Amino acid sequence: MKGVIFNVFEDFVVKNFGEDVLEDIVEASTLDTAEPFVGPGTYPATDLVALVVTAADKLGVTVDQALRACGRHGFPALASSVPTLMAQFDDAESFLLGLESVIHTEVRKLDADASPARFRVEQVVPGELLMHYESPFGLFGLVHGLLDGVGDWFSVDFTHEMVAADGTNATFRIRFGEAVDGGEPVGAVADA
Ligand code: HEM
Repeated sequence: MKGVIFNVFEDFVVKNFGEDVLEDIVEASTLDTAEPFVGPGTYPATDLVALVVTAADKLGVTVDQALRACGRHGFPALASSVPTLMAQFDDAESFLLGLESVIHTEVRKLDADASPARFRVEQVVPGELLMHYESPFGLFGLVHGLLDGVGDWFSVDFTHEMVAADGTNATFRIRFGEAVDGGEPVGAVADA
């Protein structure tokens, strides 16, 4: 997993809970990596999972809640790293339809070590997408959080729910034009 994703996690913890809490989490986690995580580096995904599991335990939330809050917090950093690509999209729906073909494809081109999740996104009817997530990691909470972040970025409300899961893969249904679904807000994690 690229260092940029570890940095998103670290930034989330530091901004919401402080440097000391991050240090505690790192110390309490069994990691393969001894050195600091740097953006261009590549590290075992198991280290990220270990950090998130420890963080969730320390903060008294579920791993899914921690991943979701982290994804929402991290979307602006990811989007800001590819300003020219983001400029191609006027709205959340077209962004999500281009997530695989434009964004993650470019991420793979720029860095041979990067293997972001694969998405197949289909428009079922106007205003409704099915997003098929394929990954060896099954980071479903992170997908929800990044989707929350997409809503924030484009200032639009849409619902997203996981409608099927098969091992580490899953399908999410996204509906525009309704109130945001009832997932735990970031504040609930920060207050824990
Ligand atoms: C402009 C926005 C985005 C950029 C620049 C971006 C870039 C990246 C990068 C660099 C990675 C790490 C790859 C690796 O470690 O090998 C990654 C992973 C990932 N991305 Fe994206 N991403 C973006 C948006 C999204 C969105 C909107 C979603 C979901 C709705 C998403 C879902 C994921 C997931 C779940 C992973 C973790 C790897 C996995 O589960 O297999 N990304 N992305």
